[in-house]
Amino acid sequence: MTREELIKKAFEVRENAYVPYSHFKVGAALLAASGRVYTGCNVESASYGGTNCAERTALFKAVSEGEREYKAIAVVGDPATYTFPCGICRQVLMEFGTDLEVIVARTENDYKVFTLDELLPHSFTPQDLEAANNKGGSS
Ligand code: THU
Repeated sequence: MTREELIKKAFEVRENAYVPYSHFKVGAALLAASGRVYTGCNVESASYGGTNCAERTALFKAVSEGEREYKAIAVVGDPATYTFPCGICRQVLMEFGTDLEVIVARTENDYKVFTLDELLPHSFTPQDLEAANNKGGSS
C-alpha cells in the first residue's frame, strides 16, 4: 500500500461524510500493521458535540475489528488546503503509538508527511498511567 493509494482511499470515503452542519467533508484511511486499511469519514450530529471526526471513525472501526498496531493514516479535507487532525484525534491516535505516519493530502500527489509525535509533542500517553500505577499508590 503506497501513500498515494492510501490517500485515494481517504478521498473515496470522504464522499460518505455526513456533514449537514459544517458542509466540510473529511476522509481518512488508516493502514494497520496487518496490512488492512480502515477508512472513515466525519459524522456530524444535531447536538454538535456528538460529531465524530473522520480519523476517529477510521480508528474506532479498526480497533473494534481487533487491530492494535498502525503504520500510517491519510487525511483529506478541502483540497484547497491541507487538513490536519484536530487535537482530540491526535490524542486518541496517540493511544496506539507515537511514530504513526500522518499523511495530510490535498491531492494524491500533493501531500505532507509527519509523525504523530511531531504533531503532538510532549504528549500524555498510556505509559504515563503505567508509571503512576506501578508506584503502588492506593489512590
Ligand atoms: N473534522 C474531521 O473530521 N477531522 C479533522 O481533523 C478536522 C475536523 C470534521 C469535524 C466536523 O465534522 C468538520 O470537520 C468541521 O469541523
